[in-house]
Amino acid sequence: MLKEEIQKLKKEKNAILLAHYYVPEDVQDIADFVGDSFALAKKAKETEADIIVFAGVRFMGESAKILNPDKKVLMPDMEADCPMAHMADVNKVKEMRETVKDLAVVCYVNSTAELKTVSDVCVTSSNAMQIVEKLPNENIYFIPDQHLASFVKAKLTNKNIILNEGYCATHHALTKEDVLKAKEQHPQALVLVHPECKSEVVQCADYAGSTAGILNYARQSDQSEFIIGTEMGVLYELKKQNPDKTFYLMSDKLVCDNMKKVTLDKVYECLDKEINEIELDPETMTKAAGAMDRMLELTKS
Ligand code: 13P
Ligand code: SF4
Repeated sequence: MLKEEIQKLKKEKNAILLAHYYVPEDVQDIADFVGDSFALAKKAKETEADIIVFAGVRFMGESAKILNPDKKVLMPDMEADCPMAHMADVNKVKEMRETVKDLAVVCYVNSTAELKTVSDVCVTSSNAMQIVEKLPNENIYFIPDQHLASFVKAKLTNKNIILNEGYCATHHALTKEDVLKAKEQHPQALVLVHPECKSEVVQCADYAGSTAGILNYARQSDQSEFIIGTEMGVLYELKKQNPDKTFYLMSDKLVCDNMKKVTLDKVYECLDKEINEIELDPETMTKAAGAMDRMLELTKS
C-alpha cells in the first residue's frame, strides 16, 4: 500500500509531511500536520525533521525553506503553483516606495519569494488585520491580493491601504448571486467565507476568515448548518471535526486545480527519489526572511 510505503519512508528519512486543507483527502490523511498557511509556516519553522515534504503550492514550500533554510524542502508537484503569487510587480513596489511617504509594503504569503524580498512584512489571511493594525505607517501597499486588502481596509479605516490588482481565481469566481442562491436553498445555514472572496460576497457572510478561522467558527458555533465559501478541500476537516453538523459548498466553482495536483503517488515519488527540491539563492532567502520573520514577531502575543 502506497500510504504505508510513505509512512515507512518518512520514518527512515526523518521526514515530515505538511499539508494544506485544500489538497486531496487521501494526502491530508497521511500528513503529520494539516493546517492553514500560517499554522503550516510555523510548523515548518519549528520542525526538527531533516526533510519537509510540502503538500501544497509552491509559495508554501518556498516559505518553509525561507523560514528553515537548513532543511531539504520537497514538493510533490513543482507545477502546483498559485497564480496569484505572481500578480504583483517588483518594479511597481520600488516605484511606490519612491513616491509614497510613510509607506509599508505588506505582502500576503501567497506570493513569490522575489516579492517577499521587497516587502516589509508578510501576512496570511489569519493575521493580516492584526499585523497591519500594529504597523506604525499610515500608508500600506498591500500585495498581491486586492480582496484580502479590501477586507483589511474595510475594518482598519485609519490606514490608507493601497490596493494591487491580484486575486485568487478560485475565490474571485464567487458572486453575491452564489451566496443568495445558496441561502435560498439552505435558509437555516450560516455563511462562512474566506477573505480572498470579493467584498460583495464577504458583505453577505456571517463570518469571513482564514481556513483555520472557518474551522474554529464552525466548531464553536451552536448552529448546525453552514454554507462554505472557500476551496472544497476544507469540507473534509469540517466534517471530521463536526460529524453532527451539515456543510454545503457554496458553489462547485470552489476547486483549486493547483492544490489538486498534489497526489499520493507524487508524495511517494518525491520523497523516495528526493526530487523537486525548493532551491532559492542565498540573497533572496535572507531578504525574504526579513519579511517572514517580522510576521512571526508581530504575531507573538
Ligand atoms: P489560508 O490557508 O491562510 O486560509 O489561505 C488560503 C489559501 O488560499 C491558501 O492558498
Ligand atoms: Fe492560490 Fe487560490 Fe489556489 Fe489558494 S486557492 S493556492 S490563493 S489559487
